[in-house]
Amino acid sequence: MKHRVNSINKVGLVNSDGHVIGLDLGATAVRAAALAPGLHEGRPSVSVHGLGAVPLPPGSVTCGAVTNPGAVTAAIRQLWATAKLKDTKVVLGIASQQVVVRDLTMPDMPAEQIRAALPFQARDVIALPLEQALIDFCPLGPAGPNGTGIPGLLIAMPRKPVITAVEAVEKAGLQVARVDLAAFAALRSTAGDPGAVEMVVDIGAQLSTVVIHRAGAPKVVRIIAQGSDAVTEGLADRGSMPVEEAEAAKRTIGVGDASTGDSSIARIVRDLVRPLMSEVRGSAQFYNSTNADAPIGRIALTGGGAAMPGLANSLAEQHGVPASVVTPMQHIRNRFFGQGGDAEGDENAATAVSIGLAMGAAA
Ligand SMILES: Nc1ncnc2c1ncn2[C@@H]1O[C@H](COP(=O)(O)OP(=O)(O)OP(=O)(O)O)[C@@H](O)[C@H]1O
Ligand SMILES: [Mg+2]
Repeated sequence: MKHRVNSINKVGLVNSDGHVIGLDLGATAVRAAALAPGLHEGRPSVSVHGLGAVPLPPGSVTCGAVTNPGAVTAAIRQLWATAKLKDTKVVLGIASQQVVVRDLTMPDMPAEQIRAALPFQARDVIALPLEQALIDFCPLGPAGPNGTGIPGLLIAMPRKPVITAVEAVEKAGLQVARVDLAAFAALRSTAGDPGAVEMVVDIGAQLSTVVIHRAGAPKVVRIIAQGSDAVTEGLADRGSMPVEEAEAAKRTIGVGDASTGDSSIARIVRDLVRPLMSEVRGSAQFYNSTNADAPIGRIALTGGGAAMPGLANSLAEQHGVPASVVTPMQHIRNRFFGQGGDAEGDENAATAVSIGLAMGAAA
């Protein structure tokens, strides 16, 4: 499946065996996905050739930033050994609350000229001094008629955390062929019916992302420095229980649903997820207020925190549209490539981000 968030220059991204590797550095684990482009019944498709995850010690990646590079490098080395990955070129996912994504229409001119003109466009939009920022333009379609220019997105992020992440990966003997926004990667691997306007919500341990897209073209991108770990910590605190018990209660009871019913734990969890839910609602309202002709039609949830019982139902009720947890493997042809091995383990190792990073270059 090909989404329009696909401005990646494929040259140099594909390893000599034809695989593209997506690498996601999350707060809880490093995860890699090896995909290969192919044809299925005459249409382009991608197949999976390797997946793996290695847990990270707490404090190694904090709100998307690599805060203990040594631990991250060691985990990546271990990941390559355990998942038996041979390739060295990777597409690295970047997630940070400081990423800025804005609508931008550029004059219809060659890519090189667009790149040269970007700093002037970015100056008014981002708070950072330009020499401390990385800026990119992601076109969302061809130039409009009568010189209306190329519609797209301006993406800006602080340079330093990206360099720290790249260095941690390179110290593990790998080469970063490209960095890509984790939020775009999550969109690529989870987006459903291309005719619908959909809100993709990735709920991680410390960071959550919201991407509202129309037929694969992102309209709103928000990165929120809140995740599911805060629910565990809050529940341990308010429910006076050990963290392990709070984590287990969060996973079995969650915000409460028809099967788990209501309880004091469900009430506390509901209270604790409220700030994140209101950020998500704010993004939806922002989009719907300016796109009354094409309101959000469904919500797709991904990330570890999305599995909380009752959460999808509660979002569906709040937003008045269907909401469900989606598998990042849904667009992969040989989803159960490890069958005979550990199919469920393979699926669990896959994150929407690692799969989507590789898809961006492989599709
Ligand atoms: N079954 C489950 N039910 C509820 N929460 C869960 C479940 N499984 C994992 N989680 C929670 O999901 C979070 C981890 O999600 P994920 O693996 O997507 O994060 P990450 O990518 O490592 O971190 P981040 O994206 O924030 O850097 C943890 O807070 C964990 O408690
Ligand atoms: Mg994550």
